[in-house]
Amino acid sequence: MNKDKLIVANWKMNFLYKDAFKFCKKILSKKKLIKNNFVICPPTTIILQLSSKFREINFGAQDCHYEKSGSYTGDISAFMLKNINCKYVIIGHSERRKYHYEDHIILKKKMETVLNTSLIPIYCIGEDVNTKKKGNTKDYLLKQLLNVLPKKNKKKIIIAYEPIWAIGSGITPTIDEIWEINLYIKKIITKINLSYKKTAILYGGSVNKDNSLFFLKNNNIDGLLIGGTSLNYNAFSSILSY
Ligand code: PGA
Repeated sequence: MNKDKLIVANWKMNFLYKDAFKFCKKILSKKKLIKNNFVICPPTTIILQLSSKFREINFGAQDCHYEKSGSYTGDISAFMLKNINCKYVIIGHSERRKYHYEDHIILKKKMETVLNTSLIPIYCIGEDVNTKKKGNTKDYLLKQLLNVLPKKNKKKIIIAYEPIWAIGSGITPTIDEIWEINLYIKKIITKINLSYKKTAILYGGSVNKDNSLFFLKNNNIDGLLIGGTSLNYNAFSSILSY
């Protein structure tokens, strides 16, 4: 039913190889039940081990630097991620924006580099609680889209709408609210570049085993970006099989 939906697991700074290996092995043992496409974004340290072992799984990274190489202590380039069989890269996650002060200028460069490296960017946008309370969500998202998405691009991108107040809080917007925002995002990105017409818009923030079913049933939600629940094998594998 949901074959065209995309589920992205954002493991954040969790799992050593041993647990990750068990997780992926169990997922593949149930592959006949899986109905949705999925991507796993593990910590960078274990991507190569996992991608060499589990060739049927698509892996993504949680961030990258915008330069190919150079004096950037502690950073990893998109080029290096490509080299360890990554296909996707999350950019602009609110935790990167908050803890690493990533602004539109940096994210625009990352976006360009990821596309030039032929990786698929999963660009996260979303408002904080005060912006929502003031009724400024759409303006806020507009800036996040206009300042980062390239005007001349024909390569695939994915957008994840993740309201900051929903991440890890147990609270989510209603389906109608997500629907309205997704339509708005679609309208804006199509104005930026007509080739973004088919861009998948995922929802993320406190997705769990129960609410995911409602999200996935909705035609206007193209998939999910899942944090906490993606670490729980039982919950995650159920979501993949809805
Ligand atoms: P959560 O995180 O599912 O734990 O709310 C989502 C995210 O940060 O991508």
